[in-house]
Order: sequence, then C-alpha cells, then structure tokens
Amino acid sequence: MKDVYILAIETSCDETSISIVKNGNEVVALTILTQMDKHAEFGGVVPEIASRMHCENITMVLEDTLKKANMKVDDVDAIAVTYGPGLLGSLLVGVEFAKVLSYVYDKPLIKVNHLIGHIYANKIGEKMTFPSLALVISGGHTELIKMANDYEFELLGETEDDAIGEAFDKVARVLDLPYPGGPNIENLAKKGKDTYKLPKPVNDNSYNFSYSGLKSSIINLVHNETQRGNEIRKADLACSFENAAISSITNKTKKAIEEFNIKTVIIAGGVAANSFLREEMQKLCDNLKVDLSIPPMKYCTDNAAMIGAAGYYAYLDGRKADLKLNAKSQDTLI
Ligand code: KG4
Ligand code: ZN
Repeated sequence: MKDVYILAIETSCDETSISIVKNGNEVVALTILTQMDKHAEFGGVVPEIASRMHCENITMVLEDTLKKANMKVDDVDAIAVTYGPGLLGSLLVGVEFAKVLSYVYDKPLIKVNHLIGHIYANKIGEKMTFPSLALVISGGHTELIKMANDYEFELLGETEDDAIGEAFDKVARVLDLPYPGGPNIENLAKKGKDTYKLPKPVNDNSYNFSYSGLKSSIINLVHNETQRGNEIRKADLACSFENAAISSITNKTKKAIEEFNIKTVIIAGGVAANSFLREEMQKLCDNLKVDLSIPPMKYCTDNAAMIGAAGYYAYLDGRKADLKLNAKSQDTLI
C-alpha cells in the first residue's frame, strides 16, 4: 500500500503545533510552540492572548515543520485539523489555516476531535488491541470510553463537574504553586505523605467521576487552617490530594476492565503525564493481565502528531470535511 502522509494542525488551547505523520504511526516532523510562559503570568490561559499568538506564529510553525521533514505541502496526502473541543478563538485559527491549505493545495480536509487525537497518541509506534478502554484525563475532560474498534466509541462515564486536570490546577493555585498545576503538584507530592483525610470522589456503581467536592474540601481546609494560624503541610496535602484523585480513576478503570473483558487500557490527555498515575495503572493492569498503553510524555500533552495519527484513520475511513468546517468549543466524541 502507498504511504500516506498527513499534515496535522493543533491549536485548541495554548500550543501552536503542526506535524507530518506517516501511516498514522510514524512522526516525520513535529513542532510545538507553547505559550505557557505567557499565560503563566496570569495564572491560567487567557483565550484572547492565545488566539492572537496562534495567528502570529502558525505560519512560522508550518515552515519549521516542513523544513524538519524536508517536504512541501504538495507532498502530503491530506490536511487534518483539530476542530474541537477547546477555546473557540484558538480553534478557529487552526481550522481557517487548514481550510486555506486544503483549498490552495487541493488536498482533502480531515476534521479531528481533540480527545480522539489524545487517544490516538497511543498509536504512535504502538499497536492497539480491541476492545480497548480509553481514559481521557486532561484539563477539560475526565472520560472513560470503550472502543470496540478503530473510530468506534462508547462513552461509559464522565465527570459530573470539574475535570481531573482542572482540579490539579485549582488545588495548585490554593497551595501557591504556579500554573500549570499538574506537574507542580506531582513534584511536591513526591516529598509528602498521604496524611490528610479527604473525601473520596464518587465511589458509586456508575462510571462517572466528580472532583468539585474534593477540590472544595481542600480550599476549605486551607482557609480554616490559615484562619486558625495553623501551618499547612503542603507536601502532605498535595500527596493526599493526588492519592484521592487518582484512586477514583483506578477504581473505575478496574470495574470497567472486569465488566467488559478489556484487552488494552489506553491513557490519554495531559494528566497521563503523571508518574504516580502511571505506576498505579501499571500495577492494576499487571494484576488483571491486560496491556497498558501510555504515550511517551511528549505525546501526552497537546501536540499535532496525535492529530495526524487520528487523522490517518479518519482519512482511511473517508471522513472528509469541506470548506464549511467550523470550530466547535464543545463537542462529544460520539
Ligand atoms: O491535555 P492537556 O495538555 O490540555 C487539555 O486538553 O486540557 O492537559 C493539560 C492538563 C492540565 O490540567 C495540567 O495541569 C495537567 O494536564 N497535567 C498534569 C500533569 N501534567 C499535566 N496533571 C497531573 N500530573 C502531571 N504530571
Ligand atoms: Zn488536550
């Protein structure tokens, strides 16, 4: 079969990223320009600044990617782009840029859901065996998805309120840690012990999650202790939070593996970078004798290579978009 090269574009949040991916699993070139330092000044992503920076940088990011790949836009088979979910203004920059490339170079346009991109990051250099259980855990999502086959998704459960990454970011803020909170909580938690008694996020029979109760209990605890003039053992609190947040993920994953006879567990999204979560999931999967697939760190957080991997399967499936394609800030997988 002829090799298929996908030029993929990702601008859903604060990373301007373009990649060229061969046959859905080989990254020929990848450029990620992060705006993190700029947004860190404000303690979180400022949507207006994000879209403006995507506009300023996207052409340069394309040139850089083509140079690394030693290719021209003419050499690729299709243009894939993240159309949602994400920040509307940011998404629009990528979508309009992709439409222009598709029109000018006469290449098929493929729309990719950002979360499906996170899931397909696992295909880079790896094989997936079905049925799979995909855990999408990021700043905006906490979803447990069953995959019977490529591009066949069944949503088992999701968060009822805050996403797990959002909880990491908010708890980090309460502990005076800089944005993005996840990696900073993780580093601090390594120096602490699980000594604070915190409410366990939903432990019911469903596959849903909830993080706002856990987050609020920490905000209240810090507030009350500060008012009483008591010292807060920040490392212990970070460790206790991380344990509570992640145990809810491992409990629900265990239940789903057993109920659906899962062969592979796939972890996707920014929170998949968390090493405590990786260790706990590895233990669980070893015990239950299922494969665990976690993308390398650099493909866990937002990047265009994962969009190229997902875009390849969408391309094979004939899922073409047209020039009316619009960005969608919210979108469901199914
Ligand atoms: O997937 P992503 O890059 O962007 C979204 O689509 O949301 O995920 C970003 C989220 C942030 O909430 C960040 O704090 C979290 O992933 N994160 C982590 C870690 N690295 C990133 N959370 C926990 N531990 C980490 N090491
Ligand atoms: Zn993401």
